[in-house]
This record gives sequence, structure tokens and C-alpha cells, in this order.
Amino acid sequence: MDLSVSLNRLNLKNPILVASGTFGYAREMAAFVDFAELGGIIPKTVTPAPRPGNPPPRTVETASGMLNSIGLDNDGFDQFVAEKLPYLTSLGTSVIVNVAGKTMEEFERMAAVLSQQSGIAAVELNISCPNVSGGVDFGTDPELAARVVTAFRTTCELPVIAKLTPNVTSVVPIAKAVADAGADAVSLVNTFQGMAIDWKRRKPVLGNILGGLSGPAIKPLALRIVWQVKRAVSIPIIGIGGIQSIDDVMEFLLAGASAVQIGTANFYNPGLANQLIRELPDAIRFLRAETPKDIVGTLQTP
Ligand code: FUM
Repeated sequence: MDLSVSLNRLNLKNPILVASGTFGYAREMAAFVDFAELGGIIPKTVTPAPRPGNPPPRTVETASGMLNSIGLDNDGFDQFVAEKLPYLTSLGTSVIVNVAGKTMEEFERMAAVLSQQSGIAAVELNISCPNVSGGVDFGTDPELAARVVTAFRTTCELPVIAKLTPNVTSVVPIAKAVADAGADAVSLVNTFQGMAIDWKRRKPVLGNILGGLSGPAIKPLALRIVWQVKRAVSIPIIGIGGIQSIDDVMEFLLAGASAVQIGTANFYNPGLANQLIRELPDAIRFLRAETPKDIVGTLQTP
């Protein structure tokens, strides 16, 4: 079966990607994953300067999910480009570089450097991390979100995906704004802000108090947002949120996602994305369809 999908200017061999922050920079996963089979890899977010991240503990397991407050720990953009990108682009799959910045200028500087690199399929703009403060909060304001997309597109010819936060009253106006600004696709959604409490110590569990909730616990919320945005916006959607089975993948495709990202499940089943790619053709045939594209957004509602 032809599993390929096109998200405007981004062409993928299949719609199953691995999500930023759950797959390191891929080297860590080499023993467990057939990289070349994946629809794409999205490495951990990089920022212009190295970041030490938030104080520990940074993760805690919750009912059907986990909270993280990593705080964009990374070695910085220059080190990423010099040392991590050459490995990533050698793996035989699409590499979607994920970047975050505190100012428009930071995004523009990274855009200029990325436009000179070879082998990158697209850039995902992380304007939705719930675990950092300082700088401009691009992701919760439609106008600012649009401006960062415009700035990136003006400087860099690579396809651009905006990864949006669910921590707003409605994602729809933000998705509309980034679509109007020329984003090729939106990734929906980043984590939901939450907290865990150790009542016996009268303390929050996470060093940063608040964290982002991911995993199966958020799947119904993420499906709802994908479905709402699909009805309002014409650019492709990449669905994210607690996917751990082929049923979950199919639910996101029917709700309106053209592709999906596997996130939290990579921590306990790193081979899952490969397994889902192999299971996808039978699930598509079950609906008497011939390609993933045939079923995107075909949920039948009253
Ligand atoms: O804290 C973190 O590094 C998480 C990033 C994100 O959710 O985008």
C-alpha cells in the first residue's frame, strides 16, 4: 500500500512520526528502532543557547500518563547543527528539526542557519512548551504566533510546522492565524499543564511545580482539538496525544489528522512506531480505503 502523505510542501513516506522530546536525537534509540521505516523523526527542541533545564525531579508518572518539566534542556543550536544533525540526516527518514526561541530575532537567526543545511525535511516551531518562562509567549496569541511563522518563512524555505499549545481557551484562532501566515501544517497538541503533589511532604512532586501532561490520559482532549481545528482550518494537521495503538492512530486520522506523532509511548515501547507502520495498511483496508489520505477527516457525525 502507498502510505505516503503530503503536508503541503512536506512529503512523508508514511504518516507515523516520532515526537520531539520523546526520542532524544535518535542515537539513543538505534538499538530499538528501524529509523528508515519511520515517516519522520522530530528530535528534542533546540534553542539558540544551551539550556540546563529545570530543577529535578523533572518527570512523574500519573494515571495513564506522565508529567514532564524538562525545561528545554539542550546543548544549544550550534552544537545541534554541528554534531547531531549530520547523524540525524543520515538515517534514511525525514528529519523535522524542532526549535524554540524567546524572541523573533532568535527564531530568525536559527531560520537563516537551517536554510543553509542539507537533508532537513521541515522545521517544527515549538511555540507551546509549558515549562519555560521569560521571552515572548508566542503560542497563546494568534498575532504573535502568526508573526513567528511569517518571520521563519521569510528567512527559510523549508516547510514550517507550528506546534501549538492546548493551554488556551480555543486552539482554533491560533491555528487559523498560523495557517494564514503560511504554516504548512500544525502539530496538535503539546502537553496540558498540570501538577502532582506529594501530600505527605506537603510538596509538589516536580522541581518546577508545574509540568506538561502527556500520554493516553490526554487522548480524548487531543482528539477533540484535532477535530475542532480540522473543521475550521484547511492546512494539514499532525495529531499528537497518547497514541499507543493502531486504533489510536485511526481515531486521529478520522478526526482530521493527516499524520500523527508517537510521543510518551516511546519511553516504554520504542519500537511502537515501527509496529504501527506495519499495522496501518490492514486498518485502512478495513475501512475499504486504499491510502491514508482516503480516511483523513472522514469521521461521520450526526
Ligand atoms: O520541558 C520541556 O522541555 C518540554 C517541552 C515541550 O513540551 O515542548
